[in-house]
Amino acid sequence: MQLKIAILGGDGIGPEVITQAEKCLQAVEDNFGHDFTFTEGLIGASAMEKMGSPIPEETLELCRASDAILFGAIGTEEYDNKPEAKVRPEDGLLYLRKALDLFANIRPIKVFPALVHNSPIKKEVISGTDLVIYRELTSGIYYGGKSLSEDGTVATDLCRYTEKEISRVAHMAFKAAKKRRGKLTLVDKAHVLETSRLWRRVVTNIAESYPDVEFDCMYIDNASMLMSLNPTIFDVILTENMFGDILSAQCNVLIGSSGLLPSASIGTENAMFGPIHGSYPQAKDKDIANPVAAILSGALLLEHFGLNEEFDAVVAAVHKSFRKNIVTMDIMGSTKYGTENVGDFIAQNIVDTDDNLNINDENIGLGKSTII
Ligand code: IPM
Ligand code: MG
Repeated sequence: MQLKIAILGGDGIGPEVITQAEKCLQAVEDNFGHDFTFTEGLIGASAMEKMGSPIPEETLELCRASDAILFGAIGTEEYDNKPEAKVRPEDGLLYLRKALDLFANIRPIKVFPALVHNSPIKKEVISGTDLVIYRELTSGIYYGGKSLSEDGTVATDLCRYTEKEISRVAHMAFKAAKKRRGKLTLVDKAHVLETSRLWRRVVTNIAESYPDVEFDCMYIDNASMLMSLNPTIFDVILTENMFGDILSAQCNVLIGSSGLLPSASIGTENAMFGPIHGSYPQAKDKDIANPVAAILSGALLLEHFGLNEEFDAVVAAVHKSFRKNIVTMDIMGSTKYGTENVGDFIAQNIVDTDDNLNINDENIGLGKSTII
């Protein structure tokens, strides 16, 4: 398959983890006979520095002309301490999502058996967790009008949703539930918010056309508690933009490290893939960032184009890195392996899933081949 992939590393650890994801996609290309082209573009603070905009026109054009986008992370310490900034690095990402109409953000959360001990949650609670969040990504409070009074003492952010915006992501989530364990939970705040009541009405109607999917509704505060107490009750979660952001960050903690979870942002014409985690500027260029979330985002890209064997091969290589403890310090508290070692190991193990036991792990990081 031929694929044009835009590479937007962004800020902080974004570029270095995306480099590892690109390396893994190249391994897929070589081993499965595909033809991928990778073209880099600027976004976020680095784009503001070099081009004066967090999302330059060139980047938008590149993304529109690509089959898929691999995105790293956005944000810097400088801007985190500058709430008054008129233009922020994050604006680049929000603008891109809207411009490409990437309305469905899919965040799969599956516990890795080899890493259950790494979770702050008890093993019995976390084991078997396998859920996916469908987060609406281009509307709601993120995109409603904002205002600040002249004297700076009153501010508003409007949360607005239309029936159409709700129903398109809802249909996607129900279809996913049908292919999974057949359960969908709408997470909202319908006892307080009018937008949540609209979500309930629209989604409850849609649920009727998916009779084989068990449908229930849950308030966000309750969902957040149950996510820590009993996460295995969830299969597909459907929710609005802001709740999905927060709930997925909570899931990051559940599975033991924020460096593990990938996501896909899907629109009608374009698709973007990238880790759930932030830009972690303190770790930039230290070779300590966990590349797994970025690499698994690359795997989701492959799955999006129906390359299921290739998806499986990447996931198998990631699991193998866990089993062999070829992991970054956020997982084992050890500094033996860096971002690049882990990326190399995973890339070199994306060979043939039947054949990936014949690997000499001792050679990792020593510049020698790891394939016997
Ligand atoms: C995410 C991030 C973004 C969001 C930020 C960087 C704007 O937290 O994708 O979860 O809030 O959507
Ligand atoms: Mg977030």
